[in-house]
Amino acid sequence: MSKRFYLTTAIDYVNGQPHLGHAYEKIIADVIARAHRSLGEEVFYLTGLDEHGQKVQQAAIAEGKNPQTYCDELAVSWKNFACALGLTNDDFVRTTESRHKVVVQAILTKLNAEGHFYKAIYKGFYSPSAETFLTEKDRLPDGSFDASYGKVIELEEENYYFKLKAQQQWLIDYIEATPGFIQPGYRRNEVLGFLKNNTLEDLCISRPSSRLNWGIPIPFDPNYVTYVWFDALVNYISAPASQGDESVLSVFKGEQLSSISKLNSQNTNFSLWPADLHVIGKDILKFHAVYWPIMLKAMGLALPKQILVHGWWQKDGQKMSKSTGISVDPIAVIHEWGLDAFRFYVVRELAIGPDGNWTDGGFQSRYQAELGNGLGNLVNRSLSMLKRYRNGNIPTRSDELMADAEKAVQETIANLRGNELQAALQSIWNLVSRGNVYVQQTEPFKLAKDPANAARLDEVLYNLCEVCRVLAVLISPFLPETAAKIYAQLGLKQLPHQFSDASWGSLQAGHEIGEPAPLFPRKDKPA
Ligand code: ME8
Ligand code: MG
Repeated sequence: MSKRFYLTTAIDYVNGQPHLGHAYEKIIADVIARAHRSLGEEVFYLTGLDEHGQKVQQAAIAEGKNPQTYCDELAVSWKNFACALGLTNDDFVRTTESRHKVVVQAILTKLNAEGHFYKAIYKGFYSPSAETFLTEKDRLPDGSFDASYGKVIELEEENYYFKLKAQQQWLIDYIEATPGFIQPGYRRNEVLGFLKNNTLEDLCISRPSSRLNWGIPIPFDPNYVTYVWFDALVNYISAPASQGDESVLSVFKGEQLSSISKLNSQNTNFSLWPADLHVIGKDILKFHAVYWPIMLKAMGLALPKQILVHGWWQKDGQKMSKSTGISVDPIAVIHEWGLDAFRFYVVRELAIGPDGNWTDGGFQSRYQAELGNGLGNLVNRSLSMLKRYRNGNIPTRSDELMADAEKAVQETIANLRGNELQAALQSIWNLVSRGNVYVQQTEPFKLAKDPANAARLDEVLYNLCEVCRVLAVLISPFLPETAAKIYAQLGLKQLPHQFSDASWGSLQAGHEIGEPAPLFPRKDKPA
């Protein structure tokens, strides 16, 4: 059984339409997935939808729909969204699918049998919109609760709890001993600070079905459904279980195992768990870095190798929100500017970690400067000159730009291995700039005027075309459509999908290229 590089995104709540923030997370995960495939690794990329819980139930009710119908309808547009973003996900999990529900129930049965749960009465404050119990510690200095909790109510309720208190120290030790576990480092420090300065409260893992019935029934008590987070996090292992991943299935026995296996008869020869990477936003760090590791340890499963935490996007310096209408619709941007322009901007503008700010002006200026005048211009003039001066035939190999290309390849790969996607684009664009400067320095259009310079012109044209080819390979995880176009314009039949293809000198003398065409057409502003 070979282990695949297994990466996941957060699964989105289906209580509305996807926006820039959702698109961003799925794109950075997709770039990482494609980069690992380009490195020759076998990859499994999982994304999906979080369909249970109060938020979704309320959104369904507001539209006068049964929650399942509501989810089924929205799932179609979210799957189309994944397609429109060019995602190469290998599976798409929905938490209302039977394959997911049986795993959640098997885990609950197992942990209950092993004494991880107890039932107790809770009396206190509750935020229905955040689906969270609040304590005195959650009060702001003025005594109120943060506006993000919405209307806070008082509640007295009996529920099931997952014992966390005894788990705190090993988790601290683990995070301290494993520096790469949470990236970037300041997010890791945040988790450590939280764990060291607070005593973990046991986690409430149920909701009475009389109050909320849109959830997975607790198998040992029909009066309850599972708390949405205990359900959602499990997607990271329910999808592998449904793929026949022995590393997950091995922790279940007897009845639990047979109910899972009945649904999932896939016979695969790869394993997925533990995940190599969970890509998530900063707001859900505690669930992934505290609750999820504790859940996994209780189940007897290995911890994920890494949690990569991205920041949040704003639009024009303001929080995106439905009520204010401040938002960026990725589909509209892709429609107008193309998929690769959108993918480029979000990765180039923002390193993974800090918050970002979308402005239409910023988007357009990167489009024009870096895509149009940068990459697009280099490829178009290089190929057009080869057409014009050499009838489209590649001259004899020349290595003048080989060192620059090799440097870009090495830096790009190193940056990608460290999930430094923005830095990887900077390394690639250094080679774009080098190519454009090389045109200015060598002035092939002048060389072409005098047949005495023919040999020099051959050298220059070879270097330019080969740089374009290397660039196509390097951009392929980021800008897959553009990479394919460059290869097609170079008259190459295959796709530039392996970094090993980036080694210098693969264009052969005498090879005839295809038709050059602008990659990023100029968009003149409407009058
Ligand atoms: O939290 N900028 O779902 P969700 C960047 N179902 N990222 C953003 C963003 C923004 N403006 N807004 C949201 C949930 N996100 C749970 C996850 S995982 C087992 C369950 C990110 O739809 C957010 O940080 O509220 C999260 O990673 C993802 O979108 C889904 O958010
Ligand atoms: Mg959210």
